[in-house]
Formats: sequence, C-alpha cells, structure tokens
Amino acid sequence: MTHPRPDTPPAGEKASLVRGIFARIAGRYDLLNALLSLGLHRPWRRRAAAHLDLHQGSRVVDLCCGTGELTAALADLAGPENVVGVDFVPEMLERARLRHPELRFVEGDALATGLPGGAFDGASVAFALRNVEDVEALFREMARLIRPGGRVVSLELTRPPGLLGCLHGLVLRWIVPLVGRLFSGQGGAYRYLARSIAEFLPAEEVADLMRRAGLEEIRIVPLTGGIVTLHLGRRPAHE
Ligand SMILES: C[S@@+](CC[C@H](N)C(=O)[O-])C[C@H]1O[C@@H](n2cnc3c(N)ncnc32)[C@H](O)[C@@H]1O
Repeated sequence: MTHPRPDTPPAGEKASLVRGIFARIAGRYDLLNALLSLGLHRPWRRRAAAHLDLHQGSRVVDLCCGTGELTAALADLAGPENVVGVDFVPEMLERARLRHPELRFVEGDALATGLPGGAFDGASVAFALRNVEDVEALFREMARLIRPGGRVVSLELTRPPGLLGCLHGLVLRWIVPLVGRLFSGQGGAYRYLARSIAEFLPAEEVADLMRRAGLEEIRIVPLTGGIVTLHLGRRPAHE
C-alpha cells in the first residue's frame, strides 16, 4: 500500500491533507509566521483589516482564522463582541482561544459555515486561499455571509515579479522548509506550504473567481513588492 507524501496533495483529498498539516504545526504556527515574514505579518493584517472599513459595532467574520491573529486585528476595529473566527482544525482553534479568550471562535468549514446569511458587514480570509479545495466556493460563502454592500478582503502570500521573484523562489524552495524543519520538526508540511505559494493562481484569476462568486468593485493591492496581495471586493448593494 502506498502512502501520499506529506508535501503532495492527492486530488480531491486536499481538505484532509490541510487539516493534518495544521493540526501538526498548530503549536509552532505563530512563531514560524513571525520568523518567516520577518514580523511583517502584523502590518499586513492591519492593512487587510483596515480595508473592511469597520467601526465599533460592525459585525465581521474571519474565515480560516487559524490562531486568530487577523480576528484580533478586526476586533480592535469592530469590538471583541462583534467578531467571529471560523476554522476547521481544533488544534488551531485551541491556540486561538488561549491567545484571545475574549473572542468567539467556532469550528466549521469555511466553504459552508452554517452561519446565517447577510449577518455581517465584512468578511475576511488570510493566508488560506491556497489551502481550500474550491476558491470560488469560499468567496461565494463570504458573499453570502455579508449584507448587500458589505465588504470582503483576502490577504494571501503571492509571487513577486522580477528579481525579487527569483530571490523569493529560492527562499520558498530552500529556506522555508529548512526553517520549518528546525523550528517545528515539520519540514514536509512547510515544503507543501512553500509549494502551494509557488503554484497558486495569479492574482487576476483570483479576482475573476471573486466576480464569479457575485462580488464587485474588485481591487488587487500588492504589498511589500508583491510578497503578499490583498484582494478586495464588495457584495452589490442592490441585487
Ligand atoms: C495558513 S493558516 C492561516 C490562519 C490565519 N488566517 C492567519 O492569518 O494566520 C490557514 C488556515 O486555514 C484553515 N483552513 C483551511 N481550509 C479550511 C476550510 N475549508 N475551512 C476552515 N478552515 C480551513 C486551516 O485550518 C488553517 O488554520
């Protein structure tokens, strides 16, 4: 009997592969995030949160919330009682609840959360488009969850153009798995994560999926030379 390598997602089994990876790296996820982004993940999250145009009292849902870092940035703007984070890996949620006991986190699939439609002013997702089975379905769920006129934002690791792109490719190939192995003992998991960045859809295709999911006013905003990209969109005010 053959076993799939941890860095090779077999077709149709992405969700269980992703669940396994995040269950294994949950304890070291925040440390690795800080190391691999050189601390930039915080300002990136703040920029993403700012784009939702929230104020105290706005209701907001953070899909694929992981350990709740973006959820907490949203709570700073909207108030802790008005945000909810959703993730399907209990080990990541356990960390989220420990780090942010004042926030609400629920276990669920981001593609079908079961939360009421139109209940939120904004919806976010960070560093997770690459990990879901169906990106358009994720945006459809985000569009369903927000009220007409509400906003969505995605923050995702991307491939920068030009010389920075060559350097970035080398870092993904060699440094990310090495740092992953040294600090979490999970080189295979970080090889998968690095490859998922290299192989992910171009920003324009992600924007097309957002349009197909019913969103409008789509904008693509590269940050830090294109190492990360924000995708912004809106549910039409009149449908
Ligand atoms: C790279 S982490 C990002 C976590 C967090 N958003 C952040 O900014 O640090 C990706 C997260 O997406 C979650 N995830 C992937 N697919 C999911 C799905 N279909 N439903 C819910 N969570 C999902 C994983 O469990 C993991 O916690």
